[in-house]
Amino acid sequence: MSEQPRDSSAPALFTWEFATDPYPAYAWLREHAPVHRTTLPSGVDAWLVTRYADARKALADPRLSKNPQRHSAAAHAKGKVGIPGERRAELMTHLLNIDPPDHTRLRRLVSKAFTPRRVAAFAPRVQVLTDRLIDTFEERGEADLIHEFAFPLPIYAICDLLGVPREDQDDFRDWAGTMIRHGGGPRGGVARAVKRIRAYLAELIHRKRLELAERRDGRAEEGEGQGERPAAGERSGEGDGEDLISGLIRASDHGEHLTENEAAAMAFILLFAGFETTVNLIGNGVYALLRHPEQRALLQRAVEEGDEGLLAAGVEELLRYDGPVEIATWRFATEPVTLAGQRIAEGEPVLVVLAAADRDPERFGAPDVLDLTRRDNQHLGYGHGIHYCLGAPLARLEAQTAIGTLLRRLPGLRLGADPEDLRWRGGLIMRGLRTLPVTWNSAA
Ligand code: HEM
Repeated sequence: MSEQPRDSSAPALFTWEFATDPYPAYAWLREHAPVHRTTLPSGVDAWLVTRYADARKALADPRLSKNPQRHSAAAHAKGKVGIPGERRAELMTHLLNIDPPDHTRLRRLVSKAFTPRRVAAFAPRVQVLTDRLIDTFEERGEADLIHEFAFPLPIYAICDLLGVPREDQDDFRDWAGTMIRHGGGPRGGVARAVKRIRAYLAELIHRKRLELAERRDGRAEEGEGQGERPAAGERSGEGDGEDLISGLIRASDHGEHLTENEAAAMAFILLFAGFETTVNLIGNGVYALLRHPEQRALLQRAVEEGDEGLLAAGVEELLRYDGPVEIATWRFATEPVTLAGQRIAEGEPVLVVLAAADRDPERFGAPDVLDLTRRDNQHLGYGHGIHYCLGAPLARLEAQTAIGTLLRRLPGLRLGADPEDLRWRGGLIMRGLRTLPVTWNSAA
């Protein structure tokens, strides 16, 4: 790798203490080594970018490729870079692993199906799912908000949106549980869960393609004045009123469609990218509120008075303050790049530390303070540039509904454990609580 003097006072990264509170280490890096070479727990060397201005630049720099084949070392061949281990082969063609022009084509196609309008139309369903989950523990006066609420909500929501039949959704819950429990580690259970999800999605996509073709044929017959069959469900335009997988199959751009394989990979990445992130946004967000009683009281009042504006702004601040995505996904220099005076050689991996950038005092006033009324809050929690989170409207909808409904229905919510006893799940990319015990005064 390019030379950078090792600083013996550099804080230890990726330890247990770091997973619990990485922010002091990030403050040190921003000040002393804003583009810092480190050895990751996997043994791979990479550059960490921690200042806001540099992070934004790096995220939008076309010289930093998303394609793991660009890595100079042979590490990617051993499954150490990019999507971990055995998940990699399954997911090679997804949006987060490719560059233009392939990325442009796939993103344009999926954007035609996964529109903000479709997400907005989904709001009543997210409310129903949220209420049903709270119904299951409301009377009890205590719950683990990760396992009983933050974890199942995004899984049921994305399954519904994709069009996975309700009777199959508990299987998804089990598979997703396996993935989140074992993280990206090379464990048999994860490989099996990935395989099952992929096989299930491939079969579902195939079935839906046949159904769509049948409906089309039915309509054609009807057009000839022979058919009695109503042209149910399918509409023109972006296809709202049908599920997202059917939308993905039908989406076309200049006559081009997604292949069944591409649609399966796309459905998988929507599940994969939209699941643990949302679990942790709800979990980290509720935890931050419970640790800041004044801010929580402010939001509680707003929610009770129906002030949606503060709820929306508040969720953005929770994302800036302690968001789920610690580090953006891998990037690799396709030519020598100089960032903050540091030369990065061709083929070297660059990791943009979103959580550090979002606490940069050069960009945010009092960055370590949680301020739900903060203005000018252009955080990097959803990334920046062409890979900006495609699911941001859905994530916002889920987090606002989840947090708003919890505060409204359980106004006496409080932490049910000493913060010292809580354990954090710190992978390289994601950070969130393993459990979040809470209590409240139940009516029962
Ligand atoms: C990309 C964050 C939820 C789908 C990203 C990126 C970030 C991010 C930081 C960019 C990564 C990079 O540039 O390396 C989040 C957060 C979420 C969330 C914080 C929740 C709180 C979702 C949901 C979905 C989703 C719910 C879909 C259902 C995607 C996809 C990409 C992406 C498909 C890749 C886009 C591309 O490469 O063009 N997300 N995400 N995300 N996200 Fe999200």
